[in-house]
Amino acid sequence: MSFKENKSIPRYNFYHFVNAAIFVTMNILLLGSGGREHALAWKLCQSKHCDLLFIAPGNAGTKNCGINVELQVTDFEKIKIFIKENNIDLLVVGPEEPLVLGIRDFLHNDDSLQHLKIIGPGKLGAKLEGSKDFSKTFMQKYNIPTAAYRTFTANNFEEGLKYLEQHRLPIVLKADGLAAGKGVVICQTAEDAIAEFTEMIQAQKFGAASARVVVEEFLTGIEMSVFVLTDGKNFVLLPEAKDYKKIGEGEQGLNTGGMGAVSPVPFYTAELQQKVLHSIVAPTVKGLAAEKIPYVGIIFIGLIVENGDAKVIEYNCRLGDPETEVILTRLENDLVELFDAAAQQKLDTIKISSIDKWAVGIVAVSGGYPGDYKKNIPITLHATDTANGILFHAGTKLQGEELVTNGGRVFVAVSPADTIKDAVTKSIAKLDSIDYEGKYFRRDIGFEFN
Ligand code: AMP
Ligand code: GLY
Repeated sequence: MSFKENKSIPRYNFYHFVNAAIFVTMNILLLGSGGREHALAWKLCQSKHCDLLFIAPGNAGTKNCGINVELQVTDFEKIKIFIKENNIDLLVVGPEEPLVLGIRDFLHNDDSLQHLKIIGPGKLGAKLEGSKDFSKTFMQKYNIPTAAYRTFTANNFEEGLKYLEQHRLPIVLKADGLAAGKGVVICQTAEDAIAEFTEMIQAQKFGAASARVVVEEFLTGIEMSVFVLTDGKNFVLLPEAKDYKKIGEGEQGLNTGGMGAVSPVPFYTAELQQKVLHSIVAPTVKGLAAEKIPYVGIIFIGLIVENGDAKVIEYNCRLGDPETEVILTRLENDLVELFDAAAQQKLDTIKISSIDKWAVGIVAVSGGYPGDYKKNIPITLHATDTANGILFHAGTKLQGEELVTNGGRVFVAVSPADTIKDAVTKSIAKLDSIDYEGKYFRRDIGFEFN
C-alpha cells in the first residue's frame, strides 16, 4: 500500500533546501488507537517537520490529523512492508505490547531499515515494563528507591507460601509479565495472598505472565507520574501528571485504565523534583547505559510520594493514557524535533518548555466499563465550539459516515485553563456536549486540588 502517488497533504520539501540539517520533513508512522495516540497524532501533525502522518490503526479522531491505515500493532511483517513502501522516516510506538514483543529489534534487523528512527526501546529495554522481576532487580542494583520485594516461581513455591504467612499486611502480588493492567493484586490477609499466589503460579491465572510472581511490600502515599524522554545517554523531562484510576468519584470502585489526569501536579515541588531527578531519573538512565541496554524512547515512572520522598511503583516503556493527553496539551516544543533529537542522541541540545496552565483530562467511558460494555453505539457530537478545549477520541470509529463507540474509554476532553476549577468546568462542558447511550464520566477529577 503506497500513499505517495495519491496524497492530499502537501509536502513542504522546500525546507530540505533551506537547511537540511535542521529543517527536514519526515514521513511518520504512529502505532496505536487510543486517546494517547490521538493526542500524539494531534501534536505530531502540528510540526513543521511532519510531511505525511500515518496512524495504524488509529481511531475516528486520528483521521483529522493524518491517514489511518488498517494495520495491527503486532503485525510486524505488514508494518515493515508499509514502512518500506511509504518511505517512513520515523516510527512512534504508542502502546507497550509491540515494544515488549521487540518491534524495534525486528525492524532494525533489516539492513534496509537502518536509517529508520524509532521512538520506543528494544526488547531488552522494554523489560522495564514487560517484566516486574527485571525492573525490581534493576532498581535494587542501581539503588533506586522502591518497595522491598522477593520473586517466586513454581520452583520455590513452598518457600513463597511461608514468606507470605509471615509478611506484613497488606501484601502486594504482581504477575511478572504483561497482564492487561490486571496483574497487580493487593491482599489484606495472608489467606487471600496465599489463594491469589496459588492461582497465579499454579493455575496460571494470567498465563505465562504469572509463572513468576513478585511479592512486594505495600507502600502508602500519593501516586503521580513523571515522563522521561531519553536517547540512552541524555534525557529530558516532559511535564508530570497525576492520573485517577478508579471508576467512581472520590476514587471509589474498580480500577480502570484511567478516568482522568491532571498536569501539573501541585505537590511536585521544586525540592521533590530535584530528589526524583537525582535519586530516580538519572540513575535509571545511567543504569540502562551501564547494562548496555540502548534505550531511545519514553520511560514513564510511576511514583508514590510520602513525606516528601518518592519511591518507584513501576516503570512503563511508553507514554500513559490519559496522561499523554494532558502533558502534550501543555508541551510547547515541536514533538517531531524532540523525537528526532532523541533518535540522533542529541537530547542535550533540547530545552523543554510547557505552558503555565492547568490541563485537566476527563475520560468519558461506555456504560459497564471496566466490566463488559457494548460497542458500535452511535455518537452525536453537538459541540462545534473550540472554547472548551480539545476533544481527543479514544474508543471511536467511523462506520460508513456514522461515528460509533469502539471501546471502553471513548473520549478524553482536555481544557487548559488558568485555574484547575476552570479546566475541570470546561472539560465537563465538552463532554456534556456529546451524546451516546451509556455515557459516563467522573466530574471530580482534580478534586483534591480544587
Ligand atoms: P503497577 O502495575 O505496578 O503500576 O500497579 C498498579 C497499581 O497498584 C499502582 O498504580 C498502585 O496503585 C498499586 N500498587 C502497585 N504496587 C504497590 C505497592 N507496592 N504499594 C501500594 N500500591 C501499589
Ligand atoms: N494511565 C496509566 C497508564 O497508562 O498506564
